[in-house]
Amino acid sequence: MRRPGGRGCPVATGGVPVGYIGGVSAAAQAATNAQPPSTPASASRGEPVISCRNLVKRFDGRAVLDGINLDVYPGETMVIMGGSGSGKSTLLRCMIGTFKPDEGELFMFGENVAELKPRDLDDLRKKFGILFQSGALFNSMTLAENVALPLQEHTDLGSEIVDIQVKIKLELVGLREHAEKFPAQISGGMKKRAGLARALALDPRVLFYDEPSAGLDPVTSAEIDRLIVALSKHVGVTSVVVTHEMDSAFTIADRMAMLDKGKMLVVEKREWFDGIRKTGEAEAGKLPEGQQLIRQFLRGDAEGPITRRRASTNYQDDLLGVRGAAEPPPEPSVVATRRVRRSWRRRGESADQEQES
Ligand SMILES: Nc1ncnc2c1ncn2[C@@H]1O[C@H](COP(=O)(O)OP(=O)(O)OP(=O)(O)O)[C@@H](O)[C@H]1O
Ligand SMILES: [Mg+2]
Repeated sequence: MRRPGGRGCPVATGGVPVGYIGGVSAAAQAATNAQPPSTPASASRGEPVISCRNLVKRFDGRAVLDGINLDVYPGETMVIMGGSGSGKSTLLRCMIGTFKPDEGELFMFGENVAELKPRDLDDLRKKFGILFQSGALFNSMTLAENVALPLQEHTDLGSEIVDIQVKIKLELVGLREHAEKFPAQISGGMKKRAGLARALALDPRVLFYDEPSAGLDPVTSAEIDRLIVALSKHVGVTSVVVTHEMDSAFTIADRMAMLDKGKMLVVEKREWFDGIRKTGEAEAGKLPEGQQLIRQFLRGDAEGPITRRRASTNYQDDLLGVRGAAEPPPEPSVVATRRVRRSWRRRGESADQEQES
C-alpha cells in the first residue's frame, strides 16, 4: 500500500530542496523562550522520504519504541539523539527494514515497508546506504573489494566501470591511495570512511548513520561531519544520523529528534535545540520539565532531570526485583546476594535459577 495521499518519491525528480532552513541567530534567540514545538511546516518540502506513524517496537513485551512519529524530508539531515537505551538504533533498524514494527506504519519513498515483498524490499534497499558504527567491512577483502561488492551484487556494470566507481567513492572519502589495504591495516577512522565509501557505492538517495563519530579523534570526526554535510548539500542525499556527539549533531543537522525511553520528545529545527542549549541558568528553571531534560542532555550537565530521574530509581527495590509491570522479567543475576536469594525463594522461584560468582 502506498502512503495515503503520497505522490511517491520527490527525490526521483531531482528536485531536492536543500538548505531550506533559514538564519540561525534569530531563531536561536526566539527558541530561548521556546514553547513546545509545533508540527513542522512540511508544505514546501514535498512528501517525506521516510515517514514513521505511531511506530511501536517491543522486545520481550517491553515497548522500546512507543508510538514514534517522525518524517524525514528530501535532502535534509535528521539527527536522532537520546540517552543510551532510548531506542535510537532500534528506530534506525526499523527504518532499514531489519526490525519489523509491532504496531504502526513505516513508509519509505511512499511505500509501506512492512507490506513489501522480499524482492521489492531488496529494490528499496538499493536506494539507501548504511554506515554502521564499526564500518562493518569484510576483513578478508581489500577496501576496493569492499566498495565494489554492492556494485557487483546489485548492478550489471562491467568490471572497468566498477573499478572507476570504486576509485570515485574512495577518493570522496580520501582513501583512494589505500584501496589495496585490508581493514586490519587501517585505523578506526579510516575504517569508518571506508564504510561510508561502501555505503555510497550505489549512489543512494538516503544514508543512515549509527554513531558515525564514535571513537574517532576530533579531526577525523570533523572530516566525517564535513562529508555528511557535503553529501546533503551537493549531492542531495537525505541523511538520518544517530549520534551522541553534540558538536557533530549541531554541525550536520537540519532538524533534530530527541528520543527518551522509547518516546519521541520533540522533533524540531537545529536552531530550536540550539536555543534550548544556550538557555542560561537563570531562565532554565522556567522551562517545562521536558525542555529542561533536553537542555541537560545537550549540554552534558551533571545535574538536571535526567540525573534526578536516575537517582530516584530505588536501588534496593531494583536488586530485590520490585519492578514496574511494563518492564521485562529480570535476568538471573550473576552476583546473587543472600538477600536476593531469599527474595527469590519467597517468590517461589527454583534455586537452580540462582547463580553465584
Ligand atoms: N534485539 C534486541 N533484543 C532485545 N532487546 C533489544 C534488542 N535490541 C535492542 N534492545 C533493547 O532496546 C532498548 C533500546 O536499544 P537501542 O540499541 O535502540 O538503544 P540506543 O538508544 O541505540 O542506545 P545506545 O546509545 O547505547 O546505542 C535497550 O533496552 C536494548 O536493550
Ligand atoms: Mg545505539
